[in-house]
Amino acid sequence: MKKIALFASGNGSNVQRIATFFKTNPDVEIPLVLTNNPGAGVLQRAKNLGLNTLVFSKDDFYHSQKIIDILNREGIDLVVLAGFLWLIPATMIAAFPNKIINIHPALLPKYGGKGMYGHHVHEAVIANKEKKSGITIHYVNEKYDDGQIIFQSSFDLAAEETPQSLAEKIHLQEYEHFPKVIEKLLKN
Ligand code: GAR
Repeated sequence: MKKIALFASGNGSNVQRIATFFKTNPDVEIPLVLTNNPGAGVLQRAKNLGLNTLVFSKDDFYHSQKIIDILNREGIDLVVLAGFLWLIPATMIAAFPNKIINIHPALLPKYGGKGMYGHHVHEAVIANKEKKSGITIHYVNEKYDDGQIIFQSSFDLAAEETPQSLAEKIHLQEYEHFPKVIEKLLKN
């Protein structure tokens, strides 16, 4: 049995997709969905899916061992950041070496770093008249969007692309690839 913990800060559609993907897989369990945001849509989605949730504070995350202890107690094999916006503290990276992955809605190393999330990324991609965008799944290190790249997929932007239409295309790519990449990592 492999166990994954899902971290999200907002809507949580990737969390829903991942949970649905693994629902029929007896070898993968999701003991916990964690969020820093008590108003995040992910909480309702997780509830609808019957998943346990935990809301944590800045103090819990940056000035205590609480989250690390919980992940250890649950026997988590892989930590998955699915739309999670806080920087991961060095203590947590040291506790889970090469076991924390993130999804980013652009082709890193471009359009990453602090403040580059969600619509900010798509607006910048369009403003710069990029011909392509896509998704990146990568290991997490102490910097935003900087760890070793595991997977990328890309597509051509349409002439009339808007941040909204781009976000939709990115989400479809995320839904298709993220669960499969997680599944593959869990088999290694
Ligand atoms: C996703 O597109 C994800 O790639 C992005 O936030 C969105 C969350 O959507 N993550 C980042 O921008 C991280 N820098 P969701 O809440 O519907 O899954």
